[in-house]
Amino acid sequence: MYHSIISGFGHYVPEQVVTNADLEKVMNTSDAWIQERTGIRERRFFNPETDTVANMSAKASRMALEQAGLQPQDVEFIILATITPDYFFPGSGVLLQRELGLESIGALDVRNACSGFIYSLSIADQFIKTGMYKTILVVGAEIQSSLMEMNDRGRNISVIFGDGAGAVVLQASNEKGKGILSTHLHSDGRFAEELYVKDPGSSRRPEERVDPEIMKGSSIRAFMNGNAVFKHAVVRFHEVIMEALDANGCSKEDIGLLVPHQANLRISNYLKEQLSLRDNQVYNNIMRYGNTTAASIPIALSEAKQEGLLHPDMLLCLAAFGSGFTWASALIRL
Ligand code: COA
Repeated sequence: MYHSIISGFGHYVPEQVVTNADLEKVMNTSDAWIQERTGIRERRFFNPETDTVANMSAKASRMALEQAGLQPQDVEFIILATITPDYFFPGSGVLLQRELGLESIGALDVRNACSGFIYSLSIADQFIKTGMYKTILVVGAEIQSSLMEMNDRGRNISVIFGDGAGAVVLQASNEKGKGILSTHLHSDGRFAEELYVKDPGSSRRPEERVDPEIMKGSSIRAFMNGNAVFKHAVVRFHEVIMEALDANGCSKEDIGLLVPHQANLRISNYLKEQLSLRDNQVYNNIMRYGNTTAASIPIALSEAKQEGLLHPDMLLCLAAFGSGFTWASALIRL
């Protein structure tokens, strides 16, 4: 059976830096509140003239492919995790395929929010293990800023989220004990409405679906019960990391680097303490990018690679939690 190894990492973030001071100008918030509660100092917002989910994904993908020593034409399948596709349908996976100049390979969109990248990695891993594909592009990309309300009503959520894209190239290998060791996927739909965008949903009458009242309200914006998310996240992150370690006969001391979904620096720090990890065992870049949902793990991986923090044979642990609720982990031997 084949194993999936990550042979290239890439990322792209929009040029526009939005600091906490910039947010102070448009809503009743403060740099101190945001930093204390979330650890975020700044984030990137897309430029509507130039950035789309598909073209940011393509930039991240080209970087990952170059690192892997491959051309776009070598890709056999695309999986794109996003909850903010360019169109209501089709998904942005096919737009990424078009951006890369690829003609007819399959492209799949995954809508599992903050866990979307690990879900995508898991799907890609199964295709590689069965021998169906040998080279798969796995991407996470989001434009969240257009979903946020930049005012007092939206402040509990709009200060947290940012835009960007990250990508990895997954390739088949025969080398035993290397690559993705296991992935673990979970969900609990009882909490779907704790972090969601309600409208424009399809289960409404056509005349109600995008009526002016809906447009004025907040149901077309992201809603988050921050306290509920926090409480579940700290339990599930820990649980799913331990599940991955146990499944492979590993212990938390074996973790070379933990790259958690960048939900909130307080959550990452709490996790670090729960697992008794050192500072240099947990990677965080939320300070600079905010929470970029499905893009956060691949952006973090690509930056960790650039910073020389990923070493051969290192045990890499990925973990995520978010809307759904969904949560997931992956254990990878580099
Ligand atoms: N700036 C200033 N004040 C704000 C604010 C903002 N951006 N957003 C909310 N507040 C206010 C609230 O209105 C409330 O005021 P009140 O006490 O007068 O009612 C106060 O701050 C505390 O609000 P609360 O929601 O209880 O804050 P909190 O300490 O729980 O922090 C979060 C809010 C969102 C930072 C926190 O719940 C959290 O981190 N949750 C997890 C979120 C997360 O990780 N989401 C991503 C999941 S993938």
